[in-house]
Formats: sequence, C-alpha cells, structure tokens
Amino acid sequence: MRTIDLTLIVAFALLFVWGGVAGAFHLDIYEPRVPSELLEELQDMDNPYPATPEMIEAGRTIYFGKGLCVTCHNHDGKGVKLPGHSPRDFTDAKWQEIRTDGEIMWVLRNGSAGTQMPVRVGKDISEEEGWSVIHFIRTFSPSN
Ligand code: HEC
Repeated sequence: MRTIDLTLIVAFALLFVWGGVAGAFHLDIYEPRVPSELLEELQDMDNPYPATPEMIEAGRTIYFGKGLCVTCHNHDGKGVKLPGHSPRDFTDAKWQEIRTDGEIMWVLRNGSAGTQMPVRVGKDISEEEGWSVIHFIRTFSPSN
C-alpha cells in the first residue's frame, strides 16, 4: 500500500512539473501575452487612429515592407513554419475576437518573450505605423 501511494505521489509530481515545462514552451495561443498587471489597462486602450482605408493601406505597406511581418506571418496572415513557437495565425476568428488592439500594441513594443516575435515599434517602425499595421492585421479576420 505504501509503495503504491509513493508511486502515485511521484507520478503526480512528474505530471505537474511536465505540465509546467510544456506550458512554458507552448503557451496556449489564446492566453494573453502581456503582463497580468497591465492586462485590464491594455484591454481598455483603443486604437487612437480610425480604421480608414488610408490607414489600412499604410498598415499593409508596413506589413509587406519595413515591418518585416510578412517574413514570419506570411502573405496570407497564416504564418510560416518556424522552429519553436509558430507565428500567430491572423485568420483565426477566435484569436481576432479576444485579442484587443492595446494588447497587440504591447507585443509590438515588447516582442513576445521566448518566441521569435521581435520588438517592432520603437525599433523598425513608429508608434503610428504600429497602429496602422494593427488595422491591417484585422483585415485577415474571417469575419471581415
Ligand atoms: C521573426 C519572425 C517574426 C516577425 C518578423 C514578426 N513576427 Fe509577429 N509573431 C511571431 C511569432 C513566432 C509569434 C508567436 C508569439 C507568441 O505566440 O507569443 C508572433 C505573434 C504575433 C502576434 C500575436 C500576439 C498575441 O498577443 O497573440 C501579433 C499581433 C504579431 N505577431 C504581429 C506582428 C507584426 C505586426 C509584425 C510586423 C510589424 C510581426 N509580428 C513580425 C514572429 C514574427
């Protein structure tokens, strides 16, 4: 009886550790990428620029140009195959619905730790270009 208990405890402990490790490497795609203490504030943040055709067009130019987004997220927004964490699939309706512009801006400013998603805003593109590329990303949504 005692050995069985011990085996069970060890098995559960291993499962727990493995779950933690696997979680760290493969964070669910719908989980927020921003620090939890900033989540509420970022979810309340609106895109300061209206989604005009000009703004969306400017975002398209960044996406296919100096933002380099297309090299990882591909021309169809579905993402190319990369070692490690896959680039986000922008045609995923659920992701488009739950992820806010404010959260995306944080990722553009800070990158996504532990993945190949690089810092974009403040490095290769400006704040305004960042907001325009967010409008462009929304055009990949199936509900658009
Ligand atoms: C070198 C490859 C690479 C480049 C260049 C790149 N990305 Fe990414 N991107 C990724 C990867 C990998 C992920 C997945 C990160 C994750 O799951 O946390 C990602 C995730 C994202 C996300 C999802 C964040 C979230 O909260 O779910 C957005 C939005 C995004 N990228 C936008 C962009 C934009 C816009 C550009 C260009 C200005 C860009 N990316 C350039 C690789 C890249």
